[in-house]
Amino acid sequence: MSSHNRITTLPFSGRHVEARVVTDVHDLPLTGRVIVVNLDTAPAYLDRLPRTPIPAFSSTIAVDSTLAHAGAVALLRVLGEQPIARITDEPGWQHFTDIAGPDAFPRTTPLYRSAQADVGTVRFDPHVTLGSTHPDSRPRDFTVRLMLWYAPPDTGCGIHNRHAFIETHAQIIGNGRMQKFADREPTSLYEDVLMSPGYATPVPFCGIGPDTTFTYPWHQYHADTDCVWLAVEYHLAD
Ligand SMILES: [Fe+2]
Repeated sequence: MSSHNRITTLPFSGRHVEARVVTDVHDLPLTGRVIVVNLDTAPAYLDRLPRTPIPAFSSTIAVDSTLAHAGAVALLRVLGEQPIARITDEPGWQHFTDIAGPDAFPRTTPLYRSAQADVGTVRFDPHVTLGSTHPDSRPRDFTVRLMLWYAPPDTGCGIHNRHAFIETHAQIIGNGRMQKFADREPTSLYEDVLMSPGYATPVPFCGIGPDTTFTYPWHQYHADTDCVWLAVEYHLAD
């Protein structure tokens, strides 16, 4: 029996966004417009020539296409349900204050998160991946955790600079930005990365220290319209 194309429907798959993970992909047909997020460190490929990669941590929109090869991908389909904001009424969604606590995140910022899903392990050398070198650099196992976020138009989702994991983001619905700041003040913005549906930030924002701690600049997600985006977190597993 073939172990190819193992499909898992994610807990935040619902009426607005259909979300699945597929591992060990070989010749998987994709109907309609499907956002393909490469969760693996090896490139993924559509079944077309010339064969060009969907690089590690990046994404594209496949349209009535076939995914020829991939180690692990998230596949997201926008189902057209309106209004977008009602996604937070689906099971598992919470205001981020109810997750982080009122001291850590203000109730006045309308940021919502879906249920999370650990979808498997990816092995890579974090120093190499993050463009660093270290004598003790070696491949490590990372647990891949996925979740959706929602924010309404003109929302700055909170400038922060700490994560114990490597994160990337893929835009699913609407238009937003990933922003970097010199300090915690919005006026200290020094980089603005525009996000449209199907676009992912393929280069994680963090650096890495010798003890495998991740160093982030002050950063935030900013929603220009109603926005739904996918967060991909890589947690050290060993
Ligand atoms: Fe972050």
